[in-house]
Amino acid sequence: MLEALAGRDQTFGLALNGSPPIAMPCRDFLRLRQDEFDLLGKITLPLAARVLDYGCGAGRHLKHLRAARADIHCVGIEACDGLRAHCNAAVASPATFVANWQQARNEGPFDLILLMGNGLGVLGDETAARAGLRELVDSMATGARLVIETGLWCGQGYRTNTLEIHHKGRRDGPFRWGGADRDWVVQALEVLGCEVTLSDSRAPDDVLFFAVATKRRLPMVPPPARIPL
Ligand SMILES: C[S@@+](CC[C@H](N)C(=O)[O-])C[C@H]1O[C@@H](n2cnc3c(N)ncnc32)[C@H](O)[C@@H]1O
Repeated sequence: MLEALAGRDQTFGLALNGSPPIAMPCRDFLRLRQDEFDLLGKITLPLAARVLDYGCGAGRHLKHLRAARADIHCVGIEACDGLRAHCNAAVASPATFVANWQQARNEGPFDLILLMGNGLGVLGDETAARAGLRELVDSMATGARLVIETGLWCGQGYRTNTLEIHHKGRRDGPFRWGGADRDWVVQALEVLGCEVTLSDSRAPDDVLFFAVATKRRLPMVPPPARIPL
């Protein structure tokens, strides 16, 4: 990815559960697709909104949001030092890039949280993903959005796969990466007090979808019953 950022078009191999690697162009993680552009365009953000991109990679979503809005505070979580350094240089202030959730959690409350690029997997296995989603929703302002792109190649519910990245004779990993089906995502977010809408993703994998969760406003306290005179 760092070579691709330096202008050398690169392809890496993605091996899922020991199967032969599938070719993935790095450029897919450097620019926004039209469906991502349209989805983000529908989300309204308050002045000086705080936006968190968890597993931000090269920061393609935050770069897009920054280009549209100078006032928002961009927060990116990215484990790779080189990608974090790139984001620090490429996303204008106010912006903060950190290596993990523990370093980002106090940057909220967030008005928008992104888990893009098959990003739910960044939270880990199913138990960790449920706990992670709870922490993310807790860190959101009322009415804020959480946008997740995920999906399953096979099976139902939440599945954790083993991935290896192959590039120029090198292998990185294995990594454990989770994904979920639509029912799992809706149920997991509704129990956290969110309203969820789903739409198809146009990612090349053909199995991914978007979930946009809105943190509900606190329930209205019913007025006291009138006492008949
Ligand atoms: C599939 S890529 C998606 C990148 C970006 N969201 C996009 O759509 O272009 C996942 C990114 O998450 C990062 N990552 C993986 N596990 C992580 C973790 N536990 N904490 C922070 N970043 C992580 C990887 O280094 C990688 O850049």
